[in-house]
Amino acid sequence: MYTQDQLKAMVADAAKNEVLSNMAPGGILGIGTGSTANLFIDAIAPHKDHFSGVISSSQASTERLQKHGFKVLDSNSVVSVPIYVDGADEIDPQGHMLKGGGGALTREKIVAQLAQSFVCICDASKEVDILGKFPLPVEVIPMAQAQVTRFLESLGATVSLRKIKGSDQIFVTDNQGWILDASGLKITDPVSLESEVNQIPGVICNGLFARRKADVLLIGESEGVRRQIY
Ligand code: A5P
Repeated sequence: MYTQDQLKAMVADAAKNEVLSNMAPGGILGIGTGSTANLFIDAIAPHKDHFSGVISSSQASTERLQKHGFKVLDSNSVVSVPIYVDGADEIDPQGHMLKGGGGALTREKIVAQLAQSFVCICDASKEVDILGKFPLPVEVIPMAQAQVTRFLESLGATVSLRKIKGSDQIFVTDNQGWILDASGLKITDPVSLESEVNQIPGVICNGLFARRKADVLLIGESEGVRRQIY
């Protein structure tokens, strides 16, 4: 039996092989955020010269990439990347994901949108039939917090303003936004809900990755890494 950390390390290694065998040398790679993405960064680091640069989805990933010596490019200078590799908090059977547990959802969505292929890497605990057991993160402009909270509550959610773990301080994103965590939603139509929530004034982005879902899933299970294409 593997631990969750071992499963994450296994998928990170599988993602390294996936990227190296599908990307010609000299390309630009999109990189996500979180503990699984961190393991992927460490796994791909010895091959950094394979890439002309990377696009990062958070300040935290940028720092890790730069420590390894990667050239981190401004996303405005890139029209498209062949592959984006990132974790997820939940993934459903169609490849729709719920993300943003680490608070990087907006930048993750921006980089994912540049990608021809989204390779999702996670351990088996993230696979669900219906999204929503994990609270849906919604990044907002601070002055819209109360209004967006009321809207999410009208959908049946219980909403909490994200605080820095172990403190009473509000968690502030890389974009100076705040995050509302909406729990209790049973997300049967993630494509519609993603659009609906994005329409509320003051919402920067929400953690549903349904319109731009995963193309490939590498999932760590007790039998090893399973590769699935959507
Ligand atoms: C970061 O904001 C998230 O979207 C992560 O991709 C997601 O929370 C998965 O993180 P772990 O790999 O740490 O589980």
